[in-house]
Amino acid sequence: MKVDGRAYRTIWLNVDGWGVDVIDQRWLPHEFRVATLRNVGEAATAIRDMWVRGAPLIGVTAAYGVALAMREDPSDGSLEAAWERLYATRPTAINLRWALDAVRDRLRPLEPSARAALGYAQAAEIAAEDIAINRAIGRNGLAIIRKIAEKKAPGEPVNILTHCNAGWLATVDYGTATAPIYLAMEEGIPVHVYIDETRPRNQGASLTAWEFVHHGTPHTLIVDNAGGHLMQHGLVDMVIVGTDRTTARGDVCNKIGTYLKALAARDNVVPFYVALPSPTIDWTVDDGVKEIPIEERSADEVDFVQGLGADGKVARVRISPAGSRAANPAFDVTPARLVTGLITERGVAAASSEGLRALFPERG
Ligand code: MRU
Repeated sequence: MKVDGRAYRTIWLNVDGWGVDVIDQRWLPHEFRVATLRNVGEAATAIRDMWVRGAPLIGVTAAYGVALAMREDPSDGSLEAAWERLYATRPTAINLRWALDAVRDRLRPLEPSARAALGYAQAAEIAAEDIAINRAIGRNGLAIIRKIAEKKAPGEPVNILTHCNAGWLATVDYGTATAPIYLAMEEGIPVHVYIDETRPRNQGASLTAWEFVHHGTPHTLIVDNAGGHLMQHGLVDMVIVGTDRTTARGDVCNKIGTYLKALAARDNVVPFYVALPSPTIDWTVDDGVKEIPIEERSADEVDFVQGLGADGKVARVRISPAGSRAANPAFDVTPARLVTGLITERGVAAASSEGLRALFPERG
C-alpha cells in the first residue's frame, strides 16, 4: 500500500541484501520509522515488543528471523535455538508456529552451508503467499459487501465496523479484514468504516486510522464501548475483524474486545464476519476458550497511554493512580456460534468443523 505516494510493504530486505527492514509500528501514527533487524535477537525483540504485530506479519518476521540466525550460525543447534527463541515471543498468534515450523522443516535436511540462502528464500515465499492470500480474502469478502451495497440507495455507504488492526500493517500487504474494504473502494462501492480504538494499545486509533487516512478510506474512530450503541441504532451493516488463531471448529481468537462486539452484533442481527487466512487455522484445537493460550501483557499498557505531546513529540502519560492493579489479557475467544462466516482465501466458510473442512478437504 502507499505511504505519501510511495509503495510500501511492512517488511522487506534491506539494500545490503541481508538485513530485514520493517516499519517500526510503535511510533505510528505520529512518526513513520523504519528499523533494520540484523540478527535473530533483534527479530525476537521486534515481535515481542510489537515493533511488528498482527498474526501474519509476526509469522513472516519470525521466518526472516530464522534466516538471520542461519546467516550467523547455520548449525543444527542454532536452527533449533532460533525456533525456540522466536516461538517464545508471543504465544497466541498461531501463524508464528506455522511459519517457524515451515522454515525449520525445510532447512533441517539441508547441509548447513545451504541453510541461510534457503531460509531467506522461504521467508520471501511466505511473505508472497501472505499477499496472495489477502488478495483472495479481499475478493471473497468483496462479494459480501457488494450484496449489502445492492440493497442500499445509490451512493449510500456500506457501514462496516472493525476492531484492532487487521489491515496491511498486520500483514505484509493489503491486510485481511481490510482487503475486502480496499477492493470495494477499487470497485467504486461507497464504504464507511467505524474503527474501534482498541485499548490498551490502540491499534485501531493508531494503525487502522493511519492506514485509512493514507488510503482515503472514509472512516470514523469510536471508543471501544460505542459499537453496541451504533448497532442498536442501525448504523452498522456488518462487522469484519481479523483473527490470531481460529480453531478447527471455527472459534475465533482475536484482539481483546472482539467477543463483546460479536455479542452486540448477534443481539442486533448484524452479520459478524472474520477474515481468516488459512495459516491462522489451528487444526489441532477445537475449543478455543479452553485450549488457546491467551497472552497476558504488561500492566503498563493499561496504566499508560502513548500519544503526541503538546511539544509535538511522542510521549507516554499515566492514566491510573500509582498503586492500582491492572490486568492485560491481550486476546479473547469468540465462539463459532456468534460468527456469521469465515472469509478465507478459498471462499466463505460456515464457522463450524464441517464448514472449514468443506473448504480445506485435505484436513480430512
Ligand atoms: O496484538 P496484536 O496487535 O498483534 O493483535 C493483532 C490482532 O488481534 C489482529 O486482529 C489479528 O492479528 C489479525 S491481523 C490480520
